[in-house]
Amino acid sequence: MPPPVSPALQAVDVSRRYGRGRGAVTAVAAASLTVAPGEIVGIHGSSGCGKSTLLRLLAGVERPTSGTVSLAGRPLAGRHPVPGAAMPILQDPVGSLDPRWPVWRSITEPLTAPHRPSRPDRAGRREIARERLETVGLAGLDLDARPGELSRGQCQRVAILRALVAEPAVVLADEPTSALDVSVSAGILHLLAGVAGRGAALVVVSHDLAVLDVLCHRVLVMTGGRLPG
Ligand SMILES: Nc1ncnc2c1ncn2[C@@H]1O[C@H](COP(=O)(O)OP(=O)(O)O)[C@@H](O)[C@H]1O
Ligand SMILES: [Mg+2]
Repeated sequence: MPPPVSPALQAVDVSRRYGRGRGAVTAVAAASLTVAPGEIVGIHGSSGCGKSTLLRLLAGVERPTSGTVSLAGRPLAGRHPVPGAAMPILQDPVGSLDPRWPVWRSITEPLTAPHRPSRPDRAGRREIARERLETVGLAGLDLDARPGELSRGQCQRVAILRALVAEPAVVLADEPTSALDVSVSAGILHLLAGVAGRGAALVVVSHDLAVLDVLCHRVLVMTGGRLPG
């Protein structure tokens, strides 16, 4: 038997409540999830069932009210999370980009984290951004454009490239093709599958079951803040 692979991502009894008293909403209720390196897990469910909240908790963008999220066995609540180990692709592609930053800077900023062994200079970053944009059908895009000058679909692809550029161990994608047409969307799904093929754990949230069926090894249906199991 092969040795057991330790999980890239693990959530244990994670809950998130918003507000207090009678107006309180439990967006995520005691959700547990384990994702192995190279595994692609889909999360499906109707609008408002807690998918985006769960994804933000898994990414460490937001802290759970209770429960723990661990990356490679290390709790995210600790003081020293590995920078860039889990990269989110958030549901709002425009709002997730810094409005002041040109495209090349948004895409390559994760390559400049202090812990990285080599950091490309400005010219190197522009070249990397140009190469990556070609892979998502944006070869001609102005590297100096700001998010406000781009379409939603263009912003979505820039946000995806940013999440993937530093080869994170965990990628958390919230409706990653929501602003893209079918042909571009197929290319993005192929790109995400390739990332998992190289060993990243991938969680993809979508209300579109057809997208999840082609991409994922398993699909979990979330209802009322709960995951099955
Ligand atoms: N920041 C927030 N403040 C208050 N309520 C929120 C917040 N984020 C999400 N919610 C509520 O949590 C529930 C789940 O929302 P969400 O995670 O966005 O669902 P989904 O992504 O499945 O549509 C909804 O009732 C939503 O209104
Ligand atoms: Mg959502």
